[in-house]
Amino acid sequence: MSLDAYIAGLPKAELHLHIEGSLEPELMFELARRNKVSIPFDSVEAVRAAYDFSNLQDFLDIYYAGAEVLRTEQDFHDLALAYFRRAAADNVRHAEIFFDPQTHTDRGLPFGVAADGLLSGMKAAETELGVTSKLILCFLRHLDEAAAIDTLNAAEPWLDRIAGVGLDSSEVGHPPSKFRHVFERAGHMGLKRVAHAGEEGPPAYVWEALDVLQIDRMDHGNRSMEDPRLIERLADERMTLTVCPLSNLKLCVVRDLKDHPVPEMLRRGIHVTLNSDDPAYFGGYVNDNYRRLADAVGLSREQVTLMARNSFEGSFLDAADKAARIAEVEAWAARSA
Ligand code: ADE
Ligand code: ZN
Repeated sequence: MSLDAYIAGLPKAELHLHIEGSLEPELMFELARRNKVSIPFDSVEAVRAAYDFSNLQDFLDIYYAGAEVLRTEQDFHDLALAYFRRAAADNVRHAEIFFDPQTHTDRGLPFGVAADGLLSGMKAAETELGVTSKLILCFLRHLDEAAAIDTLNAAEPWLDRIAGVGLDSSEVGHPPSKFRHVFERAGHMGLKRVAHAGEEGPPAYVWEALDVLQIDRMDHGNRSMEDPRLIERLADERMTLTVCPLSNLKLCVVRDLKDHPVPEMLRRGIHVTLNSDDPAYFGGYVNDNYRRLADAVGLSREQVTLMARNSFEGSFLDAADKAARIAEVEAWAARSA
């Protein structure tokens, strides 16, 4: 069996996926029509042609503009279900998805429009596709901590259905310590904590995410590789990194996939997972990330299997569910040997 076919059949979890970043241009047009919202493009091709970014901010500007078409609970339900159908085709068995409530509440939508729509899409995905999922609320780091605290307050009635909090958007100039209090509060409320760190920001931001925000999992983490003590710490703590190769390529975090740090991360004992981040914008879903990275750096079948195992181990599933999912990975590896 080819490595591509092996990757396709490998059961996996996706742990770094912004649901707003799974909005394909076709659905963007459909929602624009349905909601009578005008968008500054006249065709799906024109939208795709605009996805040429030189850094994170370039992408974020267009990503927040795209989210304007999302207006109703049904829109968020449809967005989520479209992602899960695509993910199921990649044999994603579990996904922990991010949403950015402030992108929607700042446009006047009540918190529940996004949250209830996504939760109903997640439930439909479990029934229709057998894909389980958890929801993570991300704070926008370009806004202030008071706005993040308001968001956590607004989320209160939904917190029994929200697994954790995250931190995303423009990294440089917005260090994790800016969100010290809101993360501390989230921790006291029993929520898991994750944060984007070291995507464009320096290793000092990764240290802060660990020490100040007390994260349970790290999103990206690429620039950790500049700091040998940090590499050792991540490996010793078995900190899961949700790495996103095609995102890194599109946002010029790496010049070429051949230069991607994943092989070195694996060699140094870091708990790496592969994910798609914003697949509608970056040109590939999770299996494309596995395949294209494998092609570029020459991953072995064992390395690919390890990262799929890591994806379940680093998830927020309970121990019994993790064990059951990891057994499915092992069964696929044994069957394909
Ligand atoms: N929001 C959506 N995708 C993101 C990324 N890769 N980094 C920071 N914020 C984001
Ligand atoms: Zn991300």
